[in-house]
Amino acid sequence: PTPVVLDVDTGVDDACALLLAALHPSLDLRAVSCVGGNAPVDDVVRNTLLVLETAGRGDVPVARGAERPLLEVPVDARHVHGDDGMADLGWAPAAVTADPRHAVELLRDVCREAAERERPVTLVPLAPLTNIALLLRTYPDAAQGISEIVFMGGAANVGNATASAEFNVFHDPEAAAVTLDAAADLGIPVTMYGLDVFYEPVVRSDVVEELIAVGGRGPAELGGRLLAFQNARFGRDASTIGDAGAVCAVIDRAGLTTETLPLRVELAGTWSRGRTIVDRRDWSGDMAHDPHGEAPVRLEVALGVDGPRYAGLWADTLLGRAGE
Ligand code: BDR
Ligand code: CA
Repeated sequence: PTPVVLDVDTGVDDACALLLAALHPSLDLRAVSCVGGNAPVDDVVRNTLLVLETAGRGDVPVARGAERPLLEVPVDARHVHGDDGMADLGWAPAAVTADPRHAVELLRDVCREAAERERPVTLVPLAPLTNIALLLRTYPDAAQGISEIVFMGGAANVGNATASAEFNVFHDPEAAAVTLDAAADLGIPVTMYGLDVFYEPVVRSDVVEELIAVGGRGPAELGGRLLAFQNARFGRDASTIGDAGAVCAVIDRAGLTTETLPLRVELAGTWSRGRTIVDRRDWSGDMAHDPHGEAPVRLEVALGVDGPRYAGLWADTLLGRAGE
């Protein structure tokens, strides 16, 4: 199995991603770091522990990380994810507790150990990139234990937090810029699973009902109840698995279409701060045609996804049918 580490702001769709990473046989979930984003970081830790315990993976270390962005004023997304950040289900908190290390120290230790064992991890950030920026700047040697970064964030086209910017990058634009800059310097390949694909893997309401019917307060019921909450809140009958699509991309890369493209994070801008500016001109990245002094980073940008394939992968895994 592929060793993976998730960085989350759980979050309804982060919870969907955690369930998939915890349960899919081709992944080995080694640690989870938490950051303030959709909800304050203490809520994120509590939600994350509950999801992992429900999935029977209370053994996975979970650590509390940054409570606020590097520079920005924190904003949460409880209007999307519920007052508790995870669908207000009212389930009892997990019995397991968080790892005593700061998230950045947990990430450092897991990456160093992975480097020693020559089993580098795939790092999957699904939240504002504050913890990851701090990790790569404070402990750059951690890069030796990271085979690639597949992150949810950004957009080549429209945003969601603003018309320009996607929430995770909008929440901490400096952290996103630092992460991409450090990854380029340290030679870590990066894939951006952004809004151009994020909303496409959707689970129909009959499958949501099937998941809930499994019951027993297990992972299938939890996944079903999370999507049912989203459907009710937004008046839809099919819900995106959101962040979980980035985990699908690690499991089943062939379901994703990407292009290697130059990208800059907008750090100024009157109405565009936090935008990921993807250069899709024919001569994109050709510095002879670019009046900016510094070369943009290049990364794999997801531009297409087989939505039904990823939604099916997610639901089948929760129903215990992965690989069938
Ligand atoms: C991202 O923002 C959060 O609300 C979701 O969890 C996802 O990571 C989408 O813009
Ligand atoms: Ca998230």
